[in-house]
Amino acid sequence: MKLNRIAAVTALGIMAAAGTAQAAEMVVGFAQVGSESGWRAAETKTAKLRAHQDKVNLRISDAQQKQENEIKAIRSFVAQGVDGILLAPVVATGWDSVLREARDAKVPVFLLDRQIDTSDPTLYTAAVTSDTVLEGHMIGDHLAKLTNNKCRIVELQGTVGSSPAINRKKGFEEAIAAHPDMKIVRSQSGDFTRSGGKTVMESFIKAEDGGKNICAVFAHNDDMGIGAIQAIKEAGLKPGKDILVVSIDGVPDMFKAMANGEANGTVELSPDMAGPALKALIALKSNGTEPQKWIKTPSTLYTPATAAAEYKRRAPLY
Ligand code: AHR
Repeated sequence: MKLNRIAAVTALGIMAAAGTAQAAEMVVGFAQVGSESGWRAAETKTAKLRAHQDKVNLRISDAQQKQENEIKAIRSFVAQGVDGILLAPVVATGWDSVLREARDAKVPVFLLDRQIDTSDPTLYTAAVTSDTVLEGHMIGDHLAKLTNNKCRIVELQGTVGSSPAINRKKGFEEAIAAHPDMKIVRSQSGDFTRSGGKTVMESFIKAEDGGKNICAVFAHNDDMGIGAIQAIKEAGLKPGKDILVVSIDGVPDMFKAMANGEANGTVELSPDMAGPALKALIALKSNGTEPQKWIKTPSTLYTPATAAAEYKRRAPLY
């Protein structure tokens, strides 16, 4: 597959001039979760861009949020003899057997944006993810400051069994544990979707005296946060004021909501997970460089103070 040549021309940045026909032969399969959120769509878009820049032929499979579809995709990529696989694992458990098949076929697997639970970490080459526990911590600390450590919180969880849902909950709970007057009074999954967030928030509002007893909603992603904002408005309340809204992802719609005074904070998750994974795969294939096991992406808190400028800056990226 002429990988030495690929790495060399990539490093020199002269790919186009160096004969793309040979360099384009590196084939990578991407088992993607689906398109449940704005962040996910941005991750897919960025992956295509990075593949184009690195002259990688990226084959993307959309699992429509079903693990069995991702498992089928991995088997198919292995059968196609790809050079590597990117896997955004919809849930954390149940990967050992298919990953063993990939390892036996000597196909390196890079996890993207979500971690897995396994007793055998040699089943994957590396994981490119943020520290999702830290994200929960950061947004929990932020909410504590905003509310003077006193708040009845409702929580919109991500997909049940997914690592960000498990870890963001954990981090958030750890952050508020120090404050006895901060409590999660209701918690349910909205499956990381806007419609799920809206429906669950409507039921929370109904159960909490038309929303009067809710101080804040913590959504595990921005899309559910946006859905919650819609539900709060339809209940005749002001999001960002009557009920505070905090979440995670940093998508443009959330910056817009913050700029409009309808949300109170988000922790950005970089949509560029494929870029570092492809670079590491190319280095591994071309000269055997072993990547770090956990390639950690940064987590940054954003607040309404800078939201308008941040919205302008990132809208074109999405
Ligand atoms: O795994 C990352 C999460 O998945 C994002 O926070 C969310 O928007 C997506 O669906």
